[in-house]
Amino acid sequence: MADSRKQLLQKREESLLGGGVSRIESQHKKGKLTARERLSILLDENSFQEIGAFVMHRSSDFGMDKQKLLGDGVVTGFGKINGRLVYVFSQDFTVFGGSLSETHAEKICKIMDLALKNGAPLIGLNDSGGARIQEGVVSLGGYADIFYRNVQSSGVIPQISAIMGPCAGGAVYSPALTDFIFMVENSSYMFVTGPNVVKTVTNEEVSSEDLGGASVHGSKSGVAHFTEQNEVTCLHNIRKLLSYVPQNCEEHTSGIDFDYSSDKSQKLAEIIPANPNQPYDMKEVIENVVDDNSFMEVHKNFAENMVVGFARLAGRGIGIVANQPAFLAGVLDVNSSQKAARFVRFCDAFNIPLLVFEDVPGFLPGTDQEWNAIITNGAKLLYAFSEATVPRITVITRKAYGGAYDVMNSKHIGADLNYAWPSAEIAVMGAKGAAEIIFKKDIDQATDKIEALKEKEQEYSNLFANPYRAAERGFIDDVIMPEETRDKLILAFDMLKNKVVNNPRKKHGNIPL
Ligand code: HXC
Repeated sequence: MADSRKQLLQKREESLLGGGVSRIESQHKKGKLTARERLSILLDENSFQEIGAFVMHRSSDFGMDKQKLLGDGVVTGFGKINGRLVYVFSQDFTVFGGSLSETHAEKICKIMDLALKNGAPLIGLNDSGGARIQEGVVSLGGYADIFYRNVQSSGVIPQISAIMGPCAGGAVYSPALTDFIFMVENSSYMFVTGPNVVKTVTNEEVSSEDLGGASVHGSKSGVAHFTEQNEVTCLHNIRKLLSYVPQNCEEHTSGIDFDYSSDKSQKLAEIIPANPNQPYDMKEVIENVVDDNSFMEVHKNFAENMVVGFARLAGRGIGIVANQPAFLAGVLDVNSSQKAARFVRFCDAFNIPLLVFEDVPGFLPGTDQEWNAIITNGAKLLYAFSEATVPRITVITRKAYGGAYDVMNSKHIGADLNYAWPSAEIAVMGAKGAAEIIFKKDIDQATDKIEALKEKEQEYSNLFANPYRAAERGFIDDVIMPEETRDKLILAFDMLKNKVVNNPRKKHGNIPL
């Protein structure tokens, strides 16, 4: 074999080994896969094409000129997921702890530029000790080069981040700028400052896991959209997520084959309890309307009073936003408004039609909510729905009260079709509260105050605790039986598939951040 061919084969082998056998073993001992093993699970078999396998850092300080490893701590390239093109980078912890050098950043930027130019999703698998300490400011510059590209790509191509190890300091901001963050339980963490700095500054003692582990970010902060038991399920679920999302903002998702169990529609008729104050699980409504096993929930453990996620209706991808009466009565608050607003904006950016299930008693009262800016945060959701130009349909299953009625994709803010079930109550507030206010004098003067309140409550309820006052006005397009919902929605979304709405020309809006 010619020497030049031998040299190539040797270099390829060297590059494949990253930081070497012992560091690979130590990665495995921590229960983690290597950068390349992760890519082989993420991508379709034999589809990965590597770019930059021979890149090495240019640093010479601290003896770094004697420690050069091919690839420089990140594996980059392109491949396929379910036959569709994606661009990937996967940080290699076996090489300088996956830390980000100038050249490491350049490799990521090259992939990001290709992804943007060619209109295909970008997936980053993060496992890194942060800025390459030996390089100083060039590493910081490298991060900023990545952040800038994240922002340029936002809304043009889907960007997905998986955190599969450490992700600390400014390094957290690239994932935070992408559309979805996956975290792996017990082996990943994200924080701006770690436990030691926290201890010094605030005197709090906290572990990495409690400060920024997957469960914290999946439930308390909402930083993580998906928390996964292990790396393999994480990588499989990234593949699944992409099946709902088009390649870029100019494309639409295509339909796929689907199943729908014939008894599901009938089940819808039995979900709403006779007592309007009794909770029920909105996920049961969703599951029975959409194609079998097609619902993929986003932010499952965060702000559970709002349910958001992707699903399919007759094979076509949709985004679902739904109040959850089984949690805090489905009330709108700071976190649920933010959660839904971000999801609505993602769907709108990528031409994914929106389906809303509404059962909302209003906004959550209290100092905590007011001081944490429920005004600004509620406005986010209002803004997100109002600017969304994708097909938008609402189904009011039960309560649609107060400002929350307006916010939850009402016709007034641009929804295309609003349906209500016979159990719907569309009013300024619940009958009891309303009666107490507008009939205060009558009730005060009555000999039997309790009976008087009951009577007035009934009077208000008869007038407004139904969908027909809104339907008279055309605010509701039709009142439908629960079991008719799926068929109606399939026809309605089909009717809306060529919808064109152009918002007024502007540089960009000013969403209340
Ligand atoms: C260079 C690094 C490194 C780094 C780890 N290594 N982090 N090399 N720069 N940032 C190297 C280690 O020297 C070691 O090399 C190998 O990677 C594995 O690291 P270990 O410490 O043995 O691994 P582990 O015990 O699992 O601990 C992982 C770790 C720890 C928690 C990430 O390495 C760590 O604390 N690293 C420093 C983190 C940090 O402070 N980064 C800078 C943050 S500031 P050998 O040769 O022994 O295998 C930042 C700013 C970004 O990132 C700003 C952007 C705007």
